Amino acid sequence: MEHHSSDLRASALWKGIILGTLGISIFFAPALMRAQVAGNGAPVRYLPDLKVWVLDTARTSYIIGVNERNELQNLYWGEKLVSDHDFFAAHSRPEHASFDSSETMTNNEYPGWGGKYYNEPSLKLTLADGDRDLVLKYASQEIHANRLVIRLKDIQYDLFVNLTYTVFAQEDIIRKQAEIQNRTSQVVTVESAQSGVWYVPRGEGYRLTYLTGRWAGETQLTREPIEPGKKVLESRRGNTSGQMNPWFAIDERGEADEEHGRVWFGALGWSGNWKLTVEDTPPAHQVRVTGGYNDFDFSCPLKPGESLSTPPYYGGFSSQGFGEASRLMHRFERDEILPDHAHPHVRPVMYNSWEATEFNVDEAGQKALAEKAAKLGVELFVMDDGWFGQRNNDRAGLGDWFVNRQKFPNGLKPLISYVNRLGMDFGLWFEPEMVNPDSDLYRKHPDWVMNFPGRPRSEARHQLVLNMARDDVKEYIFSVLDKMLSENNIKYIKWDMNRHFSEPGWPEAPVPEQKEIWVKYVRNVYWIMDHLRAAHPQLEIESCSGGGGRVDLGVLERVDEVWTSDDTEAFDRLRIQEGFSFAYPPKVMSAWVTDVPNLNGRSTPLTFRFLVAMQGSLGIGANLNKWSSDDFALATQMVNTYKSIRATVQEGDLYRLYSPREGNLTANEYVSADGKQAVVFAFLHSQQFLWPAPTINLRGLEENALYRIKTIDNKLIVPPGLNPENGVSGSFLVHHGLNLDLRGDYDSTLVILEKLD
Ligand code: GLA
Repeated sequence: MEHHSSDLRASALWKGIILGTLGISIFFAPALMRAQVAGNGAPVRYLPDLKVWVLDTARTSYIIGVNERNELQNLYWGEKLVSDHDFFAAHSRPEHASFDSSETMTNNEYPGWGGKYYNEPSLKLTLADGDRDLVLKYASQEIHANRLVIRLKDIQYDLFVNLTYTVFAQEDIIRKQAEIQNRTSQVVTVESAQSGVWYVPRGEGYRLTYLTGRWAGETQLTREPIEPGKKVLESRRGNTSGQMNPWFAIDERGEADEEHGRVWFGALGWSGNWKLTVEDTPPAHQVRVTGGYNDFDFSCPLKPGESLSTPPYYGGFSSQGFGEASRLMHRFERDEILPDHAHPHVRPVMYNSWEATEFNVDEAGQKALAEKAAKLGVELFVMDDGWFGQRNNDRAGLGDWFVNRQKFPNGLKPLISYVNRLGMDFGLWFEPEMVNPDSDLYRKHPDWVMNFPGRPRSEARHQLVLNMARDDVKEYIFSVLDKMLSENNIKYIKWDMNRHFSEPGWPEAPVPEQKEIWVKYVRNVYWIMDHLRAAHPQLEIESCSGGGGRVDLGVLERVDEVWTSDDTEAFDRLRIQEGFSFAYPPKVMSAWVTDVPNLNGRSTPLTFRFLVAMQGSLGIGANLNKWSSDDFALATQMVNTYKSIRATVQEGDLYRLYSPREGNLTANEYVSADGKQAVVFAFLHSQQFLWPAPTINLRGLEENALYRIKTIDNKLIVPPGLNPENGVSGSFLVHHGLNLDLRGDYDSTLVILEKLD
C-alpha cells in the first residue's frame, strides 16, 4: 500500500489511505495546477437549478447532470453549445421492455455493477459479507477552476467514488479519473475498476479507428465499423504492448477524413494491463467506450479506509477530422503530459550504437563511433546493450548492472568524458525489469522473478521478469540505477523491456493480494522513473519495449522520447510513423537512419532514410565505420538542415497530406507554432509509366502571406513567372499547390517555406 505523495506525479498514487473529512484525496500533478479558462466562461460551471455541469473547452462542451433517480448521467459531448438557454435537466431514458431496464438505456457516467444494469460496468466489487450489488448515486460536488470532483455513494454502504474531471480548454481535452474509497468496516474486493465511459451521440453507423501491431510493425492504423456487440482493445501482457495501443477514435459512418468531419477520440494513461471496451449493445443504439484497468485476472482488496485510483482516461473532440484530432492530442501531450511541458526544449540529434555493434561494445570501438557521430553534428551519444555483466549475447547478464571490466577496464568514465569532450551528452541502455537466469542477480535471488512455486518459469529472449511489484526489488533496482547515475555523467537512459509477463505469481504476498501484481508492478516502475528523475533533475529517459511496446500517456509523463519500432526500414517506417502520429507527437518519436539493405532486404537511398527519420526526433543508428565520405557529407548536411527545422517538426502542427496507406506518394507538412516556417516532406514509392507525382496542396498557411520556398534539391517544379525566392502566397500554396519532380523508386524531397515579413 502506498500513502499519498506530494512531490511526484499524481499517478504515483493508486491505492492509498483516505485522508480528510470530505474523503477527497488531493492530487498534486503539476498539470492540474495550470488551470485554463475557455473564452470568457469558466471551464467548469454548475447550473444548480438544473443540477447540470457544463465543462467547456475552447471549442467543445461536455455536459453531465443528475437525473430523477439521482444517477450521474451524460447529456452531451461535441461542438461547443454557446447558449445556457438550451440546457436541460437530466432525465433517464425509459425502459425498452422488461428486458432492457431504464438503467441500461440511460447513459450513466460511472455505472456500478448492480441493480438492473447490463452494459459494461465502470466498477464491480464484492464485499466481505458476500454482497455484490453496487448502485452508485450522486452525493456531492466540488469545483476548483478547471477541475470538477463529483462524489458518488452506494445506496447503502459507505462505498464512495470520487470522479475527477479536469478540463484542458485550449486542447479540447478532458481527463477522467476515479478514486474508489472503502469507508465500510469490511474488506471490499474490487474486480473491475474503470476510469469512466465516453459516450458519442446516440446513433448508428459509427466507425472505430485504432492502433494495432506487432514487434517490428507497431502502430498500424486499423479501421472498422462499430457493430452491435463489444469490441475489446486491451493488453493482458503486463505492459502497454505493441499489439494494441490504448488509443481510439470514432467518427460517423466513416465520413470523417483528415480535414473534415466529427471525430471523438480518447486514450488511457496506463502502461500495464489496460482495457478499452467499445460497446454498442442493442437496443439503445448507443456507442460507448469504457476504459480503465483490465479486469482480466484483476482483483484488488481494499481494507476499511483504503482507496484505489484508476488510470487517467482522456477524451477529446474535433469537428475538423482526424488531422485536427491528432494536432489536439499532440498539443495536449506537449503542453500537459511530457516531462518538459513547463519548459519545452527540442530533442537532441542522437546516435545509438545498437545496429552498428550489437553486443560487441568496448571503449575503443565506442570512442571511434563517437568521433564520427560528433562530426555529423550528433548531440547525444547512446551506448546500447552489451556494456554490463557477462552480456556478450542475449543469453546472459541482464540484472547485473555493473560495467563489464573486460570491455571497459577503467569503467565508463573514460568513454563518457571522451563523448562529453566531443560536445555530446552520453546515454546508456538498461533493461531494469529483467534478469537472465545466467546472471549473478538471479543466482542470488531466484525468488525475485514473478513465478508460481513449482511451476515452469517460461523464458522469452532467454530472460525472466523481475517481480517489480515487490518493494525490495523496486528498491534494489532503484539503488543500482541511482548509483550508476550518481557516479557517471549519464544524461539519458534508454529503458527497455524485451518480453511480456508469464506465470505472474507473487507467492510472498497474501493470497488475496497476489493479483495486485499487475497494478503494483507498473506503479513501482513509475516510482523508479519518478524518483530517478527527482534525484537527477537533468536525466532524460527513453521508453522502449523491443520498439514501441510501451507508448501511452502514462509513461509519457515520465519519459522524453520513445523508441518507435525495431523496424528501422525507412519505407516501412512511413506506415508505422503515420499510425503513431494519430495518437502521439512527432517530438517523442525516435527515428533512426540505419544501414541498407535493412532487415527486410529493402534498400532505400540515404536521402530517403534521412527524410523519413527527420519527421520525428532524429537519430542515427548506422555503422558509421562503413560509411563513405559521400555518406558523411550528405549526412552532415541533413543533420544541419534538421536542426534548422526541428522546432517546427517537434513543436509545430502536423498535417498529413498524403497517406502511405493510400497510394504511391506520402507527404507530411509541419507548420511552426509561430507560423513563420513550414516544411513539407514528400516520398515517392515507385514511379510507373512516367506519371508525375500528384500536386500537393498545403495546409495551415496564411493565405495573404508570402512564403519563400527552398528545397534541398531541385525537385520543385516552378510554374513560369513564379519566383520561389521572392515568395509565393499562402493562397497559391494551399489552393494551387506544389508540384514536385519525384521520379523512379524511393525518391524523396524536403521543401522549406519561410514566411516573409
Ligand atoms: C531491443 C530494442 C533495441 C535494442 C535491443 C538491445 O530489441 O528495441 O533497440 O536496444 O533491445 O538488446
